[in-house]
Amino acid sequence: MGSLHERNISLWVATTPETQYPQLAEDVTVDVAVIGAGIIGLSTAVLLKRAGVRVAVMEAGRVASGVTGYTTAKITSLHGLVYAHLVKQVGEERARIYADANQAAIEQVAAFVEEYAIDCDLRRMAAYTYTEDLSRVGDIRAEVETSVRLGLPASYTESTDLPYPVRAAVRFDNQALFHPRRYCLALAGLIPGDGSHLFEMTRATDVEEGSPCEVVTGYGTIRAQHVVLASHIPFMDRGGFFAKTSPSRSYALGVRVEGVVPEGMYLSADSPTRSIRPHPIGDETMLIIGGEGHKVGQDPDTRRRYSALEEWSRERFDVRSIDFRWSAQDYMPVDDVPYIGRLTPTSKQVYVATGFKKWGMTTGTFAGMIVSDAILGRDNPWASLFDATRVDLTHSAKQLVTENTNVAKRFLGDRLGIPKASSLTGLAPGEGKVLEIGGEKVAAYRDEAGTVHTVSPICGHMGCVVTWNSAERTWDCPCHGSRYDYNGHAIQGPTVRDLEPKPLSGGPAPAEVAETHRERMERGADMGEESEQNSIPVRKALRRGAVYSIAGVLAAGDAISAAARGIGRGLQQSPAPTQDTGGAPESRPKGGRDVGSTLRSGVVYGLAKVMVAGRSVQRGAASVYREAAEQARADPTGASAMHASTEVGEGAPVGEARHD
Ligand SMILES: Cc1cc2nc3c(=O)[nH]c(=O)nc-3n(C[C@H](O)[C@H](O)[C@H](O)COP(=O)(O)OP(=O)(O)OC[C@H]3O[C@@H](n4cnc5c(N)ncnc54)[C@H](O)[C@@H]3O)c2cc1C
Ligand code: FES
Repeated sequence: MGSLHERNISLWVATTPETQYPQLAEDVTVDVAVIGAGIIGLSTAVLLKRAGVRVAVMEAGRVASGVTGYTTAKITSLHGLVYAHLVKQVGEERARIYADANQAAIEQVAAFVEEYAIDCDLRRMAAYTYTEDLSRVGDIRAEVETSVRLGLPASYTESTDLPYPVRAAVRFDNQALFHPRRYCLALAGLIPGDGSHLFEMTRATDVEEGSPCEVVTGYGTIRAQHVVLASHIPFMDRGGFFAKTSPSRSYALGVRVEGVVPEGMYLSADSPTRSIRPHPIGDETMLIIGGEGHKVGQDPDTRRRYSALEEWSRERFDVRSIDFRWSAQDYMPVDDVPYIGRLTPTSKQVYVATGFKKWGMTTGTFAGMIVSDAILGRDNPWASLFDATRVDLTHSAKQLVTENTNVAKRFLGDRLGIPKASSLTGLAPGEGKVLEIGGEKVAAYRDEAGTVHTVSPICGHMGCVVTWNSAERTWDCPCHGSRYDYNGHAIQGPTVRDLEPKPLSGGPAPAEVAETHRERMERGADMGEESEQNSIPVRKALRRGAVYSIAGVLAAGDAISAAARGIGRGLQQSPAPTQDTGGAPESRPKGGRDVGSTLRSGVVYGLAKVMVAGRSVQRGAASVYREAAEQARADPTGASAMHASTEVGEGAPVGEARHD
């Protein structure tokens, strides 16, 4: 599952040796089982082992070959323009927790590097978020002021060592950067021994919570009192994290430039976002330039993302060569705060860490600190902010509905829009398409040598239709970000199943390969021209899909207006301020009821409604996916799956059917 086999190998992977830890070969019993050997799993495991705990880390692929091997590896608390926004969203006290945790994570990485003498080019450096747009200078100032108030090492500047002018920038001092894979390989080396283990090529397929918990793999069972899901996104659907996050992919180039290389880490606040950092390589310093983020599986031509980045790099720098290019994805939480802690409200032994929003070098490091503290029974001052079971959707209901509506649209639209073709003769070398041939839905890729590879296009997670990623030659799922190589082997995401093999058995007369649904959408053609025979269930399904989405929006809207009504009632009862009270309202209005308590109950009522609405949207979404996925698996041709999807939102709430 690790991505050492990506088409475009990152600078980090290319400059480190491949690891050879053993595969699990028999049942093992330890204190804590950690699933995933990226920065989160490794940080957690090392912190636990240092405290005398026996750990077993299992990794589906190779150590630090997932997102951690494909990051840009800035270690900083400066996450774009996050603090002014966070204060509005969660209040100043909790925004300070976010700041403190990130600052502590920088120091934790530095402490590991020093204590274990890790050779990973760790360097202290300032980080900047800058704008070239005069109208955004106010945003920069607001971020600086908020950050200073939160105790962060922030200042305002208009001068940087970038070779182009900026209008204004937030500067955070004493941040850091490193070679993430060298760092992680060193952490990995600390794990085996004294009753602890590290297994590679060992994919977990299920976790049974109990005493002990059992982690199921194809090679044996790992028994442990606690389990940590550090698999980037949990592969089990319990907790519904796939519905509370959205996967976003970005691209990076390793570039050699003429002249002076900037000695800072930069991120643009403007669109398109650009990330810049230096990295020493031999006697030279290379620049890593990143950007071009988009939803996974939702770009019809990912190759143009590399082209756009290259074009921009050449405009802004005197580029001598582009030595590396790579891409990766991370999960964005709907409320901008990562999920760290117990998997579900009832789970006592299974922990999760996900939703690192492309800042996992720090957020993933403190995730390890929070989870290890929880397992060791220590209080952690940051844990409540990141609580993975939180249900307060006050600020995220809209985003939650938007993301899940997008998924519902992809689930339905993509299944309906698969074009028919009579053969694959029109499929060019290097091209991949999802087609229906002789009643069979296939994801077909023709390699450069002309061999065609065909697999089922139905994602093993919940049944969405995968799309072709031309830049990486992978099948990517637009719903929750699962990815497969062109032979259908799962390489990333919540899925634990490969795409089913789909050998084609001959076919009728050769013809041009039909356009894909997306290509037709792009040229504005009507989806209605699709298969006549499907049209009735199709329309029904779309109607149900729309009803489901609208219900979600209405529920969230209702919740928010309930909160507003409650607050309004409180305010109406509140008398105008008098001079005598120095502007503060009197504590007791005429009706005899305390204004503060009216306001509080309004807010509490509203929040309760938001939570109920959010929960039901989430359950509805999970129920739709689950039911449809079952149908998709039972009937990969998809005909009856369309009928199944007409039951949208009508099944039993998923929480009741699951054993969490
Ligand atoms: C392009 C890009 C640039 C970024 N730049 C930065 C940056 O500059 N600074 C920053 O702080 N953050 C950055 N990030 C974010 C950061 O890289 C990630 O948040 C972080 O690497 C996530 O680490 P992880 O351990 O959760 O995931 P991973 O590194 O993917 O580790 C999870 C591991 O779990 C394994 N796994 C999955 N399922 C199973 C299973 N069932 N059984 C066993 N193993 C399993 C996978 O193979 C994988 O190795 C960036 C992200 C992207 C996409
Ligand atoms: S990743 Fe969830 S359906 Fe594909």
